[in-house]
Amino acid sequence: MNALYDHKITSVSDFEIARKKAIDSPEVFWSEIAETFEWIKPWDTVLQYDWSIPKTEWFLGGQLNITVNCLDRHVATHPDRIALYWEPNNPDDIAKTYTYKELLDAVNQFANGLKNQGIKKGDRVCIYMPMIPELTIAVLACARIGAVHSVVFAGFSSSALAARINDAQCALLITADGAFRGDKIIDLKAIVDEALTDCPSIKKSVVFQRTFSEVRWDNRSDVWWHDFVEGLSTNCQPTPMEAEDPLFILYTSGSTGKPKGMVHSCGGYMVYTAYSFMNVFQYTPGDVYWCTADIGWITGHSYMVYGPLACGATSVHFEGVPSYPKWDRFWQICEKYKVNQFYTAPTAIRALAKHPTKIIEGYDFSQLKVLGSVGEPINQEAWDWYATHIGKNKTPIVDTWWQTETGGILISSLGGVTPGKAIFATTPLPGVQAALVDEKGNPIIETAGEGILTVNYPWPSIARTIYGDHQRYKEVYFSAFPGRYFPGDGALRDSEGNYRITGRVDDVVIVSGHNLGTAPIENAINAHPDVVESAVIGYPHDVKGNALMAYAIVYDNIASSDELIQSIRQTVSDQIGPIAKPDRVLIVSGLPKTRSGKIMRRILRKLAAGEFDALGDISTLLNPEVVEEIKAALTKK
Ligand code: WTA
Repeated sequence: MNALYDHKITSVSDFEIARKKAIDSPEVFWSEIAETFEWIKPWDTVLQYDWSIPKTEWFLGGQLNITVNCLDRHVATHPDRIALYWEPNNPDDIAKTYTYKELLDAVNQFANGLKNQGIKKGDRVCIYMPMIPELTIAVLACARIGAVHSVVFAGFSSSALAARINDAQCALLITADGAFRGDKIIDLKAIVDEALTDCPSIKKSVVFQRTFSEVRWDNRSDVWWHDFVEGLSTNCQPTPMEAEDPLFILYTSGSTGKPKGMVHSCGGYMVYTAYSFMNVFQYTPGDVYWCTADIGWITGHSYMVYGPLACGATSVHFEGVPSYPKWDRFWQICEKYKVNQFYTAPTAIRALAKHPTKIIEGYDFSQLKVLGSVGEPINQEAWDWYATHIGKNKTPIVDTWWQTETGGILISSLGGVTPGKAIFATTPLPGVQAALVDEKGNPIIETAGEGILTVNYPWPSIARTIYGDHQRYKEVYFSAFPGRYFPGDGALRDSEGNYRITGRVDDVVIVSGHNLGTAPIENAINAHPDVVESAVIGYPHDVKGNALMAYAIVYDNIASSDELIQSIRQTVSDQIGPIAKPDRVLIVSGLPKTRSGKIMRRILRKLAAGEFDALGDISTLLNPEVVEEIKAALTKK
């Protein structure tokens, strides 16, 4: 077995030893783990960092190619092990499997296509694809030749796609004719065509034929995937990468309108995602692991592609949705592939829990060893349902806290090894020095307390910068509390040191597990010709976690109507994507503002949540009368 597994933590005492070692001698700790991987050239310096710049560099001077560690290394010892079980949207379609050897061949072949196209190390490649094996192949093919992939979730609109392509100046786009999602077909190519009218950097689109839908075609700029790889060799030398060379860019929402292109590096990211995957999920070779995320998000990058493959794991990738053809699809898939580790999001759990438990009766869950949750705070009801109906009160649940920016899981129990606690992420992983601070940045030293979560020391997979905007990286993550990384989340800690993440402390709202900055949504609404100004806030929703409400001021001569509200919602869908569509839009004559002109979002949140008695003192507002108007409008609805 691969020496990485010597670092698998299998008892509480192992955990304590690892945790202590990672604090006392972090460089020794991480270099011993890094040494279990294949490096083209060993590193000279384990860690160099200065968070006042801010800069974090791991394994400096080391060279590697992550795909060698994810593919070739396993092919050398067990070429026929299954890397991917791919389950199509429609259970009647043909499922596919890829052994490690088959995946390597496909990756190399596509990488040769990219090279023929002139793509080289450092070039950015945008990937906008459904959840098909070719998405994984495209990602790894980029990494094989050192191209920086920028995967954009295939639910984003054409303008959101164009903004991301232009920000990274991508040279090539990889997409598909369409996507199957439940009983829907999404015309990806049409969305791409529209986006590309505004993306001069893209020279070519490679299009995988998935839905066989009619598409607009231009022989100069479009090439079918099957033609692109036709006759190409399945050997492709991996490009040597510096440990600190960028591996990918992945966009996340922030508190301003522009998405943040988080840049992850090759070396540290590989080491941390593999180590955390193996330990949190207690993965043992031979197990079948399934994460229900989409590769368009960080969970898909770290815990569907790189982490599991670096560990030689066998994973299930699913194209579809939990409700299609019926709400038992997840459990069907768990049974079909004998899934041992199952990783999903609270929003999916809540949606599943809405259906009578009859639908899960008869499914065999006995093979499940670890259940995981990610993406937002898990509520007690969702935890209880997951623990009882899926875990049968014996399978441990890991609540994993992390972010696009952290690259890997920072706080979680280790499935069945360290003690779990309902609705708590519990303890930081070895090497993660978490701390709570108050609003002034003073550390909360008592064990139990509540405050703002920070991390005080680098871990290998922290995003190194925001693409093209290092100043913003500094401002967002390292300026609130100098010397500490600020993730933007609040947390509480119990008397045993377990953390529970309580939610965002900034203007990001998590809706159905998707991070949405309210600023870009407001910008979209403000672009509507009838709108003067708007404010978007999140309020509690029993399935989505949060829902979005938009308060909009329109021009004097415009009256509120259902058509107007629908067209405002549609504007958001067009500009960002359906995931960002506000659930409710209320036309108002004003927004509650402070005397200095700042919108009081706290009041808007309380109003949307129906907490009229918890508004606090509104007499200091510039315009308290609008609060009464909003209350009246909401009561009437
Ligand atoms: C939230 C997803 C509570 C948090 C991996 C974080 C969570 C944001 C949890 C990042 C959790 C993620 N408990 N909140 N277990 N996991 N979050 O970048 O607010 O899509 O900052 O990464 O999701 O979302 P992102």
